[in-house]
Amino acid sequence: MPSNPLPALSALQAHYEQIRDAHLRDWFTPANDPAPTRAERFTLSGGGLAADFSKNRITDETLRLLVQLAREAGVEKRRDAMFAGEIVNPTEGRAALHTALRATDPKAPFNAQVKAELARMAAFSDRVRSGAWTGYTGKRIRYVVNIGIGGSDLGPKMVVHALHHLASPDIKSFFVSNVDGADMYRVLEQIDPEETLAIVVSKTFTTLETMTNAHSMRDWFIRSGCPESALAKHFVGVSANPAEVVKFGIARENVFEMWDWVGGRYSLWSACGLSIMISVGPAHFAELLAGANEMDQHFRDAPLERNLPVLLGMIGIWYRNFFGSQSYLVAPYSEALHFLPSYLQQLEMESNGKSARLDGAIVDYPTAAVTWGEPGTNGQHAFFQMLHQGPTIVPIDFVAVLTPEHPLAGHHSKLLANCFAQSEALMLGRTLEEAKKVAGPDKPELAPHLMFPGNRPTTTLLVDALTARSLGALIAMYEHKVLVQASVWDINPFDQWGVELGKILGKVVEADLTAASVDEKKHDSSTSALIRRARAALKR
Ligand code: F6P
Repeated sequence: MPSNPLPALSALQAHYEQIRDAHLRDWFTPANDPAPTRAERFTLSGGGLAADFSKNRITDETLRLLVQLAREAGVEKRRDAMFAGEIVNPTEGRAALHTALRATDPKAPFNAQVKAELARMAAFSDRVRSGAWTGYTGKRIRYVVNIGIGGSDLGPKMVVHALHHLASPDIKSFFVSNVDGADMYRVLEQIDPEETLAIVVSKTFTTLETMTNAHSMRDWFIRSGCPESALAKHFVGVSANPAEVVKFGIARENVFEMWDWVGGRYSLWSACGLSIMISVGPAHFAELLAGANEMDQHFRDAPLERNLPVLLGMIGIWYRNFFGSQSYLVAPYSEALHFLPSYLQQLEMESNGKSARLDGAIVDYPTAAVTWGEPGTNGQHAFFQMLHQGPTIVPIDFVAVLTPEHPLAGHHSKLLANCFAQSEALMLGRTLEEAKKVAGPDKPELAPHLMFPGNRPTTTLLVDALTARSLGALIAMYEHKVLVQASVWDINPFDQWGVELGKILGKVVEADLTAASVDEKKHDSSTSALIRRARAALKR
């Protein structure tokens, strides 16, 4: 936390010492859980969502102190500065106005620009979806390939997959991101150039992976018989750097604008989300924005004590900076939300995986935890063993979607039952005495293996139905959670200098892999040996 120790910090440390060994199962026994119960006190609604925080290692006093810490750390000030378009990204001298992309107030920053670009996107999406936009042989578009990486891929891919039940049956969406040619090649095998539209998404339009894939696809169109003059029918660009897009060969009128006052990992609400709009249509895209806007209002207006992003963020701080947890798991009990964890990995770890504070001093406390996750129930057959019986505590966000977005009977109640049962088992555990009973008199030696410590904290986020609106709210809630935590850690969540060094060295190593000869002294012995091996293999 900031070097000038905030009063709430020492109070929280003392409070932590007091309750660190309390067991959730004791707090939930009826005698200790009179009305209003923990569940009633610690389940909140806001922005169209609900969150059951009651299976966390918290008391009313914990929340009071965490909210006090949020206040003392200036969360409200950072929040208001962000919404107002102030320079909240000082190392790049930029605002962070992803909220402006979904604002309804005409007086919101850049509102005219945002609305104009949305209108251009909608007009284009309608032409593609209706078949009015055709390829070089006059056929309609049936395949849309989003070429981008990081924020130019993870958000659109996550949303398109999540809203598949709302997607046009006439269009199949693909996402190519990795510079590994296999990513592009596997898609090219599935699509027909005459019916394919490529959307090249890159805020900078200089990203190695994206430009390599874009050129590969351009070559594929030409090799397939598309005249160069007709490439404009098959390529549109999304970027904050239109000049570079035109240089690549995309017609200026086919360039949709992103802006430097929106971070890449916060940009799916902008033209970066064009593949979303083509897949589900402008109306559902508008609902996605509306859901995020509703969560924005909740984040701005709700008292911190009843504020979902604030409590989600501060409870994360409680585990990270007091319990010392190293990671946290996002477990969506929804196959539609399959890519939510990987999207949140970039959002959280690229935003808050930092050591330099706003004043340039280096932190002497932990910042972002490792975010990871897989959908349930699959996780139960992969890593839940460790979560239940390993010595490491991993806080969990369960995301439960209460109604199915598919017609198959006999599935959804099983899915929800597993989600709720897992959080109950993680909380309750199984004592040694209980384990002895399960082991039975003939196998007492089994008891320690059948014991569960329990007291494993979880939050259950509740989504009534997976709509564009509820998904927008869910994503915005996590965006604001990230800001809450950055404020307490006193870091800048909107830059990403940590990705630069690898990019620079990557260019040097690539040149050494393909040069006629290599200076063996140029790199360390490991890198030189690796280059040597690869050069030999690539020659074969
Ligand atoms: O991962 C680094 C990063 O700059 C991300 O912040 C960004 O989303 C991604 O690369 C892609 O950048 P661009 O959209 O400029 O291609």
